[in-house]
Amino acid sequence: MTSSPEIPLLLRAARGEVLDRPPVWMMRQAGRYMKVYRDLRDKYPGFRERSENPEIAIEISLQPWRAFQPDGVIMFSDILTPLPGIGIDFDIVESKGPLFETPIRTQAQVDQLHPLHPEESLPFIKTILQSLRAEVGNQSTVLGFVGAPWTLAAYAIEGKSSKNYSVIKGMAFSEPAMLHQFLSKLADAIATYVRYQIDCGAQVVQMFDSWAGELSPQDYEVFALPYQQQVVRQVKETHPDTPLILYISGSAGVLERMGKSGVDLVSVDWTVDMAEARQRLGKDMNVQGNIDPGVLFGSHDVIRQRILDTIRKAGNRGHILNLGHGVLVGTPEDNVRFFFETAKQADQLMAVHA
Ligand code: CP3
Repeated sequence: MTSSPEIPLLLRAARGEVLDRPPVWMMRQAGRYMKVYRDLRDKYPGFRERSENPEIAIEISLQPWRAFQPDGVIMFSDILTPLPGIGIDFDIVESKGPLFETPIRTQAQVDQLHPLHPEESLPFIKTILQSLRAEVGNQSTVLGFVGAPWTLAAYAIEGKSSKNYSVIKGMAFSEPAMLHQFLSKLADAIATYVRYQIDCGAQVVQMFDSWAGELSPQDYEVFALPYQQQVVRQVKETHPDTPLILYISGSAGVLERMGKSGVDLVSVDWTVDMAEARQRLGKDMNVQGNIDPGVLFGSHDVIRQRILDTIRKAGNRGHILNLGHGVLVGTPEDNVRFFFETAKQADQLMAVHA
């Protein structure tokens, strides 16, 4: 079955091929649970400095690659990174998360946003992606990523991480026309950015609509789905062959609707059983996920069982093994190593534990 070794495993899974074992990577695999990352962060304390200086961002992206050889290497960046390029400034503050000095609240602010010119505002992304491709060759797959319109709008409007999204929801239900204009402008900018990432070397692009699960299904169809579709449609017009993944946190109520976005894979979080996710999404949709990141605080036995259980439920076609959300701060690095080692031997382990 392992017939075309020159094409990396993750790309083959993303195209729906039958494989002996699924490719494996982790959301947020570069980050604070790694000591080498924390050391580098002490030296370069600003998140934007770390992510917008190509030498540092390349080094951070490669830290998990050197430690664990995952089948996917994701560039170190943030979903907020393109926003200054359309006129929205932000910072990421230690232990507070993203902060926007001037949140978007008025029609005049929406009118003032400008189209994204990634060559000018995001030149470092080209250096990062080209270098990652050169470094990993066809041993792994380089992933780019973006935020989806609803989730980026949520940050820009709330001005920070939010518990109940009252400001953006207030806008949705009292001034929907203004929010729709903002979401559409974001969708155009994000599509431009995805195309740029692909041109720079991203082989797969994941779109994070992390907070779209906060919407009721009927509002998801009004404020999230159409703008996911706008991004996917524009990207597929020029780059039909690059697989796109959609991730939502807490997606159990909208899972089937995620499939309508036009992406090639749905990234499933752990609130959904993987076998049920397969049924609900249908045989033509590829999947990613979906182990609870909290499992990595457990014993090796528990980690192994959950890996094998997830692989059995997902089946041997069109599945990328991943967590159901980002790896948590404080996760023992040794358990991350065990996760990758076990996942890579899954074909042999499945035979033993059958
Ligand atoms: O997956 C990877 O390894 C690539 C790196 C990556 C980061 N952010 C680095 C980062 C990715 C894919 C993201 C995406 C991102 N950023 C999302 C979508 C994924 C998700 O978690 O749902 C979201 C919602 C953001 C916004 C964001 N950026 C938040 C909420 C925070 C603060 C988180 C916290 O716990 O403080 C960030 C900062 C951020 N982005 C960090 C990292 C490693 C931590 C900041 C630090 O290193 O000091």
